[in-house]
Amino acid sequence: MNVLITGGTGVNGAVLARLLLSEGDRPVLFDNRMDFSLIADIKEKVDLVEGDVLDPEGLRKAISNHHITHIAHLAALMPDPAEANPRLGVKVGVEGTVNILEAARAYNIPRVVFTSSKAVYGEIVGECGYPKFVPVKEDHPQKPADLYGAIKVSCETIGNYYRERYAVEFVSLRFASIYGPGKEVRHGALSFYGQLIEKVMRGEEVNLPEGGDQINDAMYVGDVARSIWLAVRVERLNQWTFNIGTGRGSTPKEFVTVLKSLFPHARIEMGPGLSKLGRSKSSYCIFDISAARDHLGYAPVYDVERGVRDYVETIRRLRA
Ligand SMILES: NC(=O)c1ccc[n+]([C@@H]2O[C@H](COP(=O)([O-])OP(=O)(O)OC[C@H]3O[C@@H](n4cnc5c(N)ncnc54)[C@H](O)[C@@H]3O)[C@@H](O)[C@H]2O)c1
Repeated sequence: MNVLITGGTGVNGAVLARLLLSEGDRPVLFDNRMDFSLIADIKEKVDLVEGDVLDPEGLRKAISNHHITHIAHLAALMPDPAEANPRLGVKVGVEGTVNILEAARAYNIPRVVFTSSKAVYGEIVGECGYPKFVPVKEDHPQKPADLYGAIKVSCETIGNYYRERYAVEFVSLRFASIYGPGKEVRHGALSFYGQLIEKVMRGEEVNLPEGGDQINDAMYVGDVARSIWLAVRVERLNQWTFNIGTGRGSTPKEFVTVLKSLFPHARIEMGPGLSKLGRSKSSYCIFDISAARDHLGYAPVYDVERGVRDYVETIRRLRA
């Protein structure tokens, strides 16, 4: 397989690239920001293309020069930069996705795997929220509560149109909350779990008066990468949109327990109860991942302990 990963030097792209390498493929990382901090250990083993998804010609060149057979489309602006510059957020999201779909059509690339988000559902209230946490399925009503969610809904809608009209297999993976190395630096307050882990790694004190019991489906980036890889590879599909998470709820307290075992001198105070954990809206929920399991063969392998350990080891390796 020759896989083009747009947004390839980012948090999820870097881990997907490592997974592809471990499977014997040499991915092409296409990104408009040549920041190698998350790929320092694999930089020489991948192909790097500095390019913009808003530049159709550059995309075409990358696809043809590298004989691309599969596309994982990750490039996007995160919620805060998109809110700060709505025109650019929509342009990169929607126009960028159309450019990818047009390139796929032009080069007969049969499938585009798109990284969507639970933001398409917006605030999670009612029986899928506290206290029942009935698992959220793919047919949950879409009521995006921010521009980022609205952009993801638009991209999914256009991608579905291309699948029906032009037979480009557009697969949307809607991710739960993700934590992974680099998130704290890149996404700041958006990354509650990343901030917690990286503050402890730096020896900083963590003091959160409340929120230790906030149940949420928090998934490690290693499972994100595996789900994208599976969606790229799986032979036949007859469902195109999948919720991807751990399928279970974890709490910040569980993260604290693991961190205290790894860093016995960590200074962490975390109060009980619920909290929006730094977000303005509550979207805490648990994903029903049975469709991903049945159609993609997806099964999460990172529980909180394994995820936090891998996070810490990866940061250490990248710094070394
Ligand atoms: N991190 C999460 O919690 C989460 C949750 C759900 C979905 N997602 C989705 O996963 C994807 C990857 O997210 P991430 O966490 O790796 O973010 P990231 O910011 O680390 O990576 C995104 C990458 O896209 C690149 N990019 C931005 N605009 C571009 C453009 N015009 N042309 C080319 N490259 C461009 C950036 O330079 C960056 O490297 C995104 O689509 C995001 O919406 C992330």
